[in-house]
Amino acid sequence: MTGPLDTDDQDDPPPPAAMASARDALALETIEVDLFVEALFRRYGYDFRDYGKASLTRRVRNLATGFGAATISDLTARMLHAPERLPDIISGLSVPVSEFFRDPHVFLALKERVFPLLASYPEINIWQAGCAHGEEIYSLAILLTEAGLYERTRIFATDISKAALNRAAEGIYPLQEAREAGRRYRAAGGSASFSDYFHARYELMKLDQRLAANVTFAEHNLVTDGVFCEAHLVLCRNVLIYFTTPLQDKVLQRFAQSLVRGGFLCIGTRENLEFSQARNRFQLIDGAAQLYRLLPGAGGA
Ligand SMILES: C[S@@+](CC[C@H](N)C(=O)[O-])C[C@H]1O[C@@H](n2cnc3c(N)ncnc32)[C@H](O)[C@@H]1O
Repeated sequence: MTGPLDTDDQDDPPPPAAMASARDALALETIEVDLFVEALFRRYGYDFRDYGKASLTRRVRNLATGFGAATISDLTARMLHAPERLPDIISGLSVPVSEFFRDPHVFLALKERVFPLLASYPEINIWQAGCAHGEEIYSLAILLTEAGLYERTRIFATDISKAALNRAAEGIYPLQEAREAGRRYRAAGGSASFSDYFHARYELMKLDQRLAANVTFAEHNLVTDGVFCEAHLVLCRNVLIYFTTPLQDKVLQRFAQSLVRGGFLCIGTRENLEFSQARNRFQLIDGAAQLYRLLPGAGGA
């Protein structure tokens, strides 16, 4: 039975003292996270200061737990004094989550609207920024192969995390992902069978290494490193969401400078240029895929 008494019980606000103490803990954590990212930057040059605070705080908290640190300040001290743990720290701060043919309509848009124009170039450069564990690289390489373009394409696959890049280069994934990946591959306009592109062994699949033959894996930090290459296409999906708006603007500027005249930028479904300073440099080609083309005279390599 429910009655006013029960409801009152459930809706009772925490006592003021508990609220004050929760506020205090939150304020303290904010200071600790700020000091952690400042220390990381000053000691090692990795700049997370303009990442969105809410998700960054979650990741720093998880790192502290993973390191067995009692507090974030404790984690900061360990990070400062143990450079050999830096790759683990960077890997813990990055979110290398991806999947094959993620958002297949984006790949379909690339295949139908970008590949026919790329086909007019004798050599094609693609910069895939924030490639995580590489699922996106292999997906793109498969579609380029089927379009007859892979032979003359070089893919520069970059990420801030060395650990993620190593995994990407290995090209080994749980076999249980194959079925869903196959479904998305077909939705992306794949013309053969996804299973043609990997060898299964026990519970794992290894992607055909011919797909990585024209891929250069490189550590590159979008926040602190410069223009990467003269690209016909920059693919950077699900990365900018972690940045504050000013940092997004800075990175988008860098993409504009990296593109050849008339080059393409794809930022994927979770971001858009609507409120960005970079908006007037690009023409929207496909809203659902957030696919843009660099306007004449708007930067360009
Ligand atoms: C969520 S994953 C996106 C993977 C893939 N692009 C996709 O959409 O499926 C984000 C990736 O961005 C990388 N990243 C985060 N900050 C970065 C930075 N400053 N420079 C380069 N890569 C960064 C992370 O390491 C992570 O691998």
